[in-house]
Amino acid sequence: MAINDSTIQDIKNRIDIVEVIGDFVTLKKVGGNYRALSPFTNEKTPSFYVSPSKEIFKCFSTGKGGDAIAFVMEVEGINYIEALKYLAQKYSIEIQEEELTDEQIEAQNERDSLFIVLNFASEYFQKLLHENSEGKSIGLSYFKERGFTESTIKKFDLGYSLDAWDGLLKAATSKGHTETMLEKAGLILKSDKDNKKYDRFRGRVIFPIHNVAGKVIAFGARTLRKDKKQPKYINSPETEVYHKSNILYGIHQARQAIRNEDQCYLVEGYTDVISLHQSGVENVVASSGTSLTKEQIQLISRYTQNITVLYDGDSAGIKASFRGIDMILEHDLDVKAVVFPEGEDPDSYSRSMSSEAFQNYLVDNAQDFITFKTNVLTDGGQKVDPVKKVQVIRDVIESISLIPDGIKRSVYIRSCADQLEIEEQVLISELNKILIQKQRKDKQNKERQERYEEEPLPQSPLAPKKEELKFTSYHVERECLRLLINYGNEPFDTDMSVAEFILQETEAISFDDKMIEETFNKASDIVRSGKKLEADQFIGPKNPSMSQLVIDLLEMKYFVSDGWHEKHRIGIVHESADLPHASYKMVLRLKKKKLEKLISQTDESLKKSASLEEEEELLKMYWHLKTLLMEVDSELGTVIPR
Ligand code: UTP
Ligand code: MN
Repeated sequence: MAINDSTIQDIKNRIDIVEVIGDFVTLKKVGGNYRALSPFTNEKTPSFYVSPSKEIFKCFSTGKGGDAIAFVMEVEGINYIEALKYLAQKYSIEIQEEELTDEQIEAQNERDSLFIVLNFASEYFQKLLHENSEGKSIGLSYFKERGFTESTIKKFDLGYSLDAWDGLLKAATSKGHTETMLEKAGLILKSDKDNKKYDRFRGRVIFPIHNVAGKVIAFGARTLRKDKKQPKYINSPETEVYHKSNILYGIHQARQAIRNEDQCYLVEGYTDVISLHQSGVENVVASSGTSLTKEQIQLISRYTQNITVLYDGDSAGIKASFRGIDMILEHDLDVKAVVFPEGEDPDSYSRSMSSEAFQNYLVDNAQDFITFKTNVLTDGGQKVDPVKKVQVIRDVIESISLIPDGIKRSVYIRSCADQLEIEEQVLISELNKILIQKQRKDKQNKERQERYEEEPLPQSPLAPKKEELKFTSYHVERECLRLLINYGNEPFDTDMSVAEFILQETEAISFDDKMIEETFNKASDIVRSGKKLEADQFIGPKNPSMSQLVIDLLEMKYFVSDGWHEKHRIGIVHESADLPHASYKMVLRLKKKKLEKLISQTDESLKKSASLEEEEELLKMYWHLKTLLMEVDSELGTVIPR
């Protein structure tokens, strides 16, 4: 189904970007614009801006930007149509849906097709579990045995895959899904021997993995056989819509509860998540047996700042999990741990008692990470010999030093002092030592980075300078456009503006990127008609790709008052301080890239030239281009490699 054009227009007319974004972040007015902490990363200084007059937002930490619809898509992880529906609901606009035409279906992009085929597969597996005799007798009875209720099974869309080579393959292709899509979705495999296609999941119970918005993006499939030759779980491979490190199992079913409880429980496995739901604990997600990633922590931090990690009683991996805890601390989230009695995991333990008793256990046994770490490192906190104690203190302080917030650090230091019976002052000086070391290292790294960015370290005169290597043709085209959009109206010299200079110098150049070329042409029209260049001229619903490109390139100065650079970049030379130089250099880089391309094309033609005359022509051309390149290179201050 699609939403008809007039409804889309109604929605767009009604949108107030500040209102829409304000539902997700706390916006502060700064001049004519608004500022907030980015909802896409975990930051301390706000770098997220909204311009009500241009109706766009931009996050300078992640580079994400766009209009209100793009924001909703990004923050909720949903597609365009779903975002429109969300906005329609917010503004109580009734949606007129219409059937898709064949063309529109064709035009749906690959991601959507993947979602469709994955959804088909999920429904197919569910149907087998509930209606097929093999599915019922093997799959359903297994889930029932584990104590999963009918409603739990439905809530998680659990399913069953037949013990056959082509169950899904046949069912899906007969419904018009292509083998290519099935393969791209990770659902079928190709045999090396005879290229025959076959189902990836066979004779297993199925746990669909959903994205935040509830779309199926992958599957985990557990074998029910006891033999050890088979892996216990087979999981979907990485696909265009499934990036294992960015997702947590159960996040869709849990996100509302995480928000409400302001707390997220983290477990290892699919079955832990499901059993906890059945015990009335719905704010739970699983890392699916791998170590926690920073993307996963960021995902949780969209809903809460509090994570509690649940550990198996006999988990040999507790010490290995410290890295994960450190990572959570680094993101300025609070972390607690609950350890279950020996031999129990969250799944088994929650099933062994009433929901109430289990929920009480979680609350009563949550330890802050210092108590937890100290307990683990001292094997339960019995008598500790002094040497070991020193090591434990160091370890714990290392973790505390990762917390970005100074106030939180001092709270933890106090608690650590209490628990380990040490003078607080001793811990503070230990902490300061680590912090100073870290600061020094950061500073060194930053300086190295800046030196590299400003002027590359000297190299062998025959090698092209690193600085030039890092500019690909696309990058240079974009950089030229960035200067044009952000600084076009500034003076280049007494006669012309930066825009006039860049446009004049690039007039004869054809861009590899067609959208960049189109934007340049538009800029050229504007400047020729005597108008000033403003970002708004490129932004609008008529050309979404151009809007996106220009928004991506917009700099902070569009969102904050003049003088921002002066205030915030004291001591660092910024290109805006010498625009003529910056634009001159960038134009040269562009020419260099174009010349290099022409030279290699000429070289290719030379190899294929049919006649002597042709060869002579090409050679002349070749040397002409080489000479030009040499001039450009010497202007850029680089030496041409032979
Ligand atoms: P578990 O072995 O604890 O699995 O692995 P489980 O989900 O609790 O299953 P039950 O209780 O034995 O039925 C924890 C998680 O590690 C991943 C899965 O995501 C699983 O949920 N895993 C485990 C795999 O991906 N492959 C494996 O072979 C084993
Ligand atoms: Mn288990």
